[in-house]
Amino acid sequence: MRRAVCPGSFDPVTQGHLDIVRRASTLFDEVVVAVGVNVSKSRLFTAEERLAMLEQGVAGLDNVRVGGFTGLITTYCREVGADAIVKGLRSATDFDYELAMAQMNTHLTGVETVFLPADPRHTFVSSSLVKEVASYGGDVSALVPDFVLGPLTDKLAARRAEG
Ligand code: PNS
Repeated sequence: MRRAVCPGSFDPVTQGHLDIVRRASTLFDEVVVAVGVNVSKSRLFTAEERLAMLEQGVAGLDNVRVGGFTGLITTYCREVGADAIVKGLRSATDFDYELAMAQMNTHLTGVETVFLPADPRHTFVSSSLVKEVASYGGDVSALVPDFVLGPLTDKLAARRAEG
């Protein structure tokens, strides 16, 4: 049984994330999408909300499940019995950032990282840009799943109201 973990913040999940998860699910027997629950980082969506949206996103994928983790990703990989971490790469900037993390994670426990090149349709898509564009009323409907659009609009409106 080859199991991989796809970690991320998923704040919120984008079509780019789901494409990587789908492709990982064809390469591994089982994929665990791992939502980082780092208390020190401020997120638009709570961990529960991010997990719930991911559950919807992977609903059609039989060998994919969703989990949350705190602490080191290498510890979580050991807990779930994963041999590999799968990450999408959109650019050389992503690679530079991800390479050191991949090497550190291998140093820590021997877990390997498998990089999948982003689909060219998604190379400009990030959760941060989606939030920024949506916050100014831009159309992000092609970049996130339908079930993210309503909650995204609501969250941004609530944040505006808070000042
Ligand atoms: O969506 P992101 O922000 O790129 O996700 C980053 C994440 C959560 C995958 C990464 O920060 C992570 O693995 N955090 C867990 C803490 C950890 O293991 N840090 C050391 C990495 S070498």
